[in-house]
Amino acid sequence: MLPKGKSPIFTMTRCRTKPEKRLLVTGATGFIGSHLAGALAEAGHSVFLLIRALNAEGTTAYDRWNRIADWLGLSPAARARIKVFVGNLDDPDLNLSLDDARFLKANTEEIVHAAGSTSFSEKKRNEIFQTNLIGLKNILSFVDRGICRRIHAISTAYVGEGTQTPCRECIFPAHGFFNPYEESKHQAEILLREFCNRNGLRLSIYRPSVVYGNSLTGRTFRFNALYHPVRSIAYLRDLFKKDLLENGGKQARKMGISLDSTTQTLHMPIRFQKRQGTGVNLIPIDYCTDAILELMNVPEKDLIFHIVNTQNTPLTDLVSFAGRFLKVSGMGVDGVSAQRAQQDPTPGALDHLFLRYMEAYQPYIEDTRIFDDSRAARTLSPAGIRCPKFSYAIFEKCMTYAVESNWGRTLGL
Ligand SMILES: NC(=O)c1ccc[n+]([C@@H]2O[C@H](COP(=O)([O-])OP(=O)(O)OC[C@H]3O[C@@H](n4cnc5c(N)ncnc54)[C@H](OP(=O)(O)O)[C@@H]3O)[C@@H](O)[C@H]2O)c1
Repeated sequence: MLPKGKSPIFTMTRCRTKPEKRLLVTGATGFIGSHLAGALAEAGHSVFLLIRALNAEGTTAYDRWNRIADWLGLSPAARARIKVFVGNLDDPDLNLSLDDARFLKANTEEIVHAAGSTSFSEKKRNEIFQTNLIGLKNILSFVDRGICRRIHAISTAYVGEGTQTPCRECIFPAHGFFNPYEESKHQAEILLREFCNRNGLRLSIYRPSVVYGNSLTGRTFRFNALYHPVRSIAYLRDLFKKDLLENGGKQARKMGISLDSTTQTLHMPIRFQKRQGTGVNLIPIDYCTDAILELMNVPEKDLIFHIVNTQNTPLTDLVSFAGRFLKVSGMGVDGVSAQRAQQDPTPGALDHLFLRYMEAYQPYIEDTRIFDDSRAARTLSPAGIRCPKFSYAIFEKCMTYAVESNWGRTLGL
């Protein structure tokens, strides 16, 4: 039985019976890693988790995992198949106790590496490379001394090069990256391939695009990417509504903002400027989890799989979904030509304000990359695992969960 008010996180009908494996999962307190760890245990595998001793709030590895297992609604049988190990990727020996290190080396048959830094910030370049590259080196050298013969690594579809569309399921030469995150993930793929080739290990690299909550329930515990602009608009809406209702509305009126008192719709004319771009490639966590679990059974070695949506969601749809959900009118997308943008590069004060919140994501609004997923589809289509088209119904479910959980603050994770 799931705890009251919780919904099943996994579509267990899709889990086929395979021989039980013993797997080490990194990043299990993270969004993707937690779902993978839970789904692997539900599918009957023994799962070892490498979790840092304490988080910033001082919560222990065991408590953090237990809270996540509750949130996931894991069955008692699955919980019993999971064992937490306290460790840190920053340390060459993973900071494991001697006994734990001995146990993991002797028992880990496969590794699922889902730990990583997902920051895009240039200011955090060192930290990003420390986790995504040095952390990876540390886990690989640990693996080298044990019985592990296979590595499953979570990369990103955005290692692909924009000019080479569609981006194929192969390793790309280095190119101009949008941020240190993409660059570090690209270098991590090269390191993984060299290491696995040299040591005769089987390697599968999974490249999800942008992952959002569960498409059936709207549940998530990460509120970045898709959620970030919606949250920023909601914040500005509340700020200007307050200004209009409680402080005379001088600031709001200066920016062309007004409130329809009958419908309570705020007119907030934010323009998203876009010179190019194919829309945003969005996949739900349920598809991401089901797809990776299925692809983990593909026997060949050295494979790369795109876990993507065959249809990008146009920016105009996202802006209209956000307006409808948040009761904000006047937002729109300007298809500004490069020439016009050069003549008039200064957006209005409101656009500037919004751009401040959106800086890290702006390159993705104009992203031209589309992804070829023919290798992944060869396995996923016959298994009936398909990515849903991103609709308003899904958007509404996800954002309702986000608002009801106060953007994660009330989840207690
Ligand atoms: N989310 C997406 O939309 C998306 C899309 C494409 C690819 N990816 C890739 O998928 C992977 C997981 O992403 P996510 O969204 O699940 O990220 P996340 O929620 O931020 O989780 C990151 C995980 O990595 C762990 N970690 C970080 N540094 C560590 C260290 N030094 N030692 C041990 N554990 C460490 C974190 O542990 P703590 O809890 O202790 O911090 C956390 O469990 C990343 O490699 C990312 O590049 C994500």
